[in-house]
Amino acid sequence: MDMFEIEGSRRLSGEIAVNGSKNAALPIMAAALLTQEPVRLSDVPDLSDIRNMQKLLTELGCAVERTGKHDCILHTTDTTESHARYDIVKTMRASVCVLGPLLAARGKARVSLPGGCAIGQRPIDLHLKGLEALGATFELEGGDVIGRVPGGRLRGNRIFLGGAFGSTVLGTANILSAAVLAQGTTVIESAACEPEIVDLANLLSAMGARITGAGSPRIVVEGVEQLGGGSHQIIPDRIEAGTFMVAAAITAGELTITNCPLDALMAATNCLEQIGVEVEALDDASSMRARVRVAGGRALRPCDITTQPHPGFPTDLQAQFMALLTLADGTSVITEKIFPERFLHVAELSRMGAQLFRQGPTAIVSGVRRLVGAPVMASDLRASAGLVLAGLAAEGTTRVLRVYHLDRGYEKLEERLAKVGARIKRVSEEE
Ligand code: EPU
Repeated sequence: MDMFEIEGSRRLSGEIAVNGSKNAALPIMAAALLTQEPVRLSDVPDLSDIRNMQKLLTELGCAVERTGKHDCILHTTDTTESHARYDIVKTMRASVCVLGPLLAARGKARVSLPGGCAIGQRPIDLHLKGLEALGATFELEGGDVIGRVPGGRLRGNRIFLGGAFGSTVLGTANILSAAVLAQGTTVIESAACEPEIVDLANLLSAMGARITGAGSPRIVVEGVEQLGGGSHQIIPDRIEAGTFMVAAAITAGELTITNCPLDALMAATNCLEQIGVEVEALDDASSMRARVRVAGGRALRPCDITTQPHPGFPTDLQAQFMALLTLADGTSVITEKIFPERFLHVAELSRMGAQLFRQGPTAIVSGVRRLVGAPVMASDLRASAGLVLAGLAAEGTTRVLRVYHLDRGYEKLEERLAKVGARIKRVSEEE
């Protein structure tokens, strides 16, 4: 297993580019199951989650050919296999996003239930409720959900998709991807408004789907008989961009972030400004591919954060902002409203000298003057990102163990941070 070794207290400076979004790419790749014509994608990041999706799609009869570092062509040629096996699903929960496309295109699906997850319980009841409203039936067998579509074709319906924690991102992706081939009109109310849903809708529309309202809480889909192929460039990753912004802030550095989806990051940039970090669009601030200068000041002010569905503050940036606020001059309150157990980084940050107190879904962060390097580990992708950021600012050496979690969502993070002045390297834990 690999770890990162970081010599902290070095200001970052220079230019860093944001890659394509993992969370946009995953349901978009699954949408290639909806057509037997080729789907061409660019800006697909080279990550372990993406490779797992590639493997799953190949098993489901959809060949994935990498045509460049970040380009691929997906082509479904064999529709006989509809089983997403536990072996793959257990490595990546997002495997569940093949459920909607399989039911819509093949009238049947067998998907292993994802099971527990480091960031808390992650049920798929809303996915099933939505697909049932479109006419699918489900039963559970051997840990697998087996879905069938009596009559072979889904039927449009009105669906309220909100749950106890608000909207569901992959649930919305599943229902949207299923509704495009259903007979009649589907209304998804309380749909997720995340930019990744808009990106999926854009690809589906390019394939011939008829969708309005993506990006708003009400999406309306007029089902069509069949979809063709399409070409699509994946949006840049807003969470990677936000992580780079915090990297500039926490090292009192200055980064120019290119290919930055600034328009999708307003909650995060609003917090950064409150904290005293300069965020300046060097071109169009309403762009999803902006050039942005981020400069950290010497003094950081505290800030209260509550995670919410988009356009609220994203849960996927909570750990990174907590790392930053451990060094603020005062007390911040961070409340996690999407995944109330997503605090794996709290105990690890404490090992670096942070003063944190967690009660239920809330963490109270009392800023300290400095963090000190330590060996740390977290079994969640974003928690690991928070620890890397803390390591960049800490005095001395930080070792972030088990970086395979990080590799699920950040491509060669150590090489890209090293290019802007971080002293960070990947070493084997055995060494
Ligand atoms: N929920 C239910 N029932 C469901 C589905 C969700 O109760 O059927 C609950 C969840 O337990 C959670 C809330 O609804 O409390 C929102 O979960 P959501 O379904 O939106 O999460 P997701 O679609 O499974 C995606 C991202 C996550 C990100 C969340 C929230 C992908 C592949 N994953 O997950 O990303 O945290 O949305 O924005 O898109 C990450 O990248 O590190 C990551 C975990």
